[in-house]
Amino acid sequence: MVNTAYVNDARQGAGLALRIDNLSHGFSLEGHRLPVLERVSLSIAPGEFVALLGPSGCGKSTLLRLVAGLETADRGALQADGVDIISPDPSRVVVFQDPTLYPWRRVWDNVALGLEAQGLLKTTGHKVDQALAKVGLSPFARAYPRQLSGGMAQRVALARALVNEPRLLILDEPLGKLDSLTRIAMQQELIDLWQRQGYTALLVTHDVEEALLLANRVIVFSDRPATIKAELTIDRGYPRHRDDPYLLQLRKQILGLLGLGESW
Ligand SMILES: Nc1ncnc2c1ncn2[C@@H]1O[C@H](COP(=O)(O)OP(=O)(O)OP(=O)(O)O)[C@@H](O)[C@H]1O
Ligand SMILES: [Mg+2]
Repeated sequence: MVNTAYVNDARQGAGLALRIDNLSHGFSLEGHRLPVLERVSLSIAPGEFVALLGPSGCGKSTLLRLVAGLETADRGALQADGVDIISPDPSRVVVFQDPTLYPWRRVWDNVALGLEAQGLLKTTGHKVDQALAKVGLSPFARAYPRQLSGGMAQRVALARALVNEPRLLILDEPLGKLDSLTRIAMQQELIDLWQRQGYTALLVTHDVEEALLLANRVIVFSDRPATIKAELTIDRGYPRHRDDPYLLQLRKQILGLLGLGESW
C-alpha cells in the first residue's frame, strides 16, 4: 500500500506511474546463468520518491537499466503509465554516478545534448538556460567540464537530465563521489527540484541516511539474486532533519536489514 500523504503533487500529471510485476532477470557469465533479479514486484505512484538500498552487486543498477529500457527483462512485466517499457524514452532519464560530460563541449552544449538529439534545440534552446538556472550554474554556461568541481559537474549532469523534463528521474548513486558537504547541499537541491517539478524519482544509494532524507519509501533488497526484503514508508514531510528520532530509529532498522550491526 502506497502512502500518498507526502507524495509530490506539485504538478499534477508530471510524474509517471511505474509498475514492476514479477520481474526476473539474469546474465550469462562464462557459460553459467547468473540470476540477478528474482520475482521483484513494485508499484510506484506518480510523483513518489522511492529509494533502493541493497548489498553491492545485488542487482540495483540492473533494475534501473530495465526501468530505463536499456535492457529487456527475461521474465515479468514493466510498465510506465500502463504501457510496456521496451526501449529508452525521453520521459525516463537516468543520471549515473559518473557525470560523463563531453570534455570538448561547454557546459551549455553538454546540457543541450538531449534536445539536440531530438532536433528540438532551435525552438527550445531556452530550456537549457532554465535547466542551468535550476541547478545554480548559469554563470558557468560557457565553462568547459575541466573547469568545474566534482559537485558542479554532477549538477551539470542533473541539468542535462532535467532539460528533457523527465516524468521519471532515475538516479544511480548520483552523489556517490561527492564530498559530504557538497553531498548534503545536493540532497537539498534534489528535494527542491523534485518538489518543484513533480516527477517520479527512483534513487539507488548506498547511504541509508540519504535514502531516509529524500524518499517517501525505501526498498531494501537482499543479496543477489535481489528480492525485496523490506519496504518502509517514511512518514515525514520535508525538510527532514538528520537527528529526527523517527529517522534514526528507521536507520537502525534498515542497517539491521542490511546485516550491519547496531553498533553503527
Ligand atoms: N552486462 C552484464 N553481464 C554480465 N553480468 C552483469 C552485467 N551487468 C551486471 N552484471 C552482474 O549482475 C550483478 C548485479 O549487478 P548490478 O550492477 O545490478 O549491481 P548493483 O546492485 O548495482 O551493485 P553496486 O551497488 O555495487 O552498484 C553483478 O553480479 C554483476 O556482475
Ligand atoms: Mg550499481
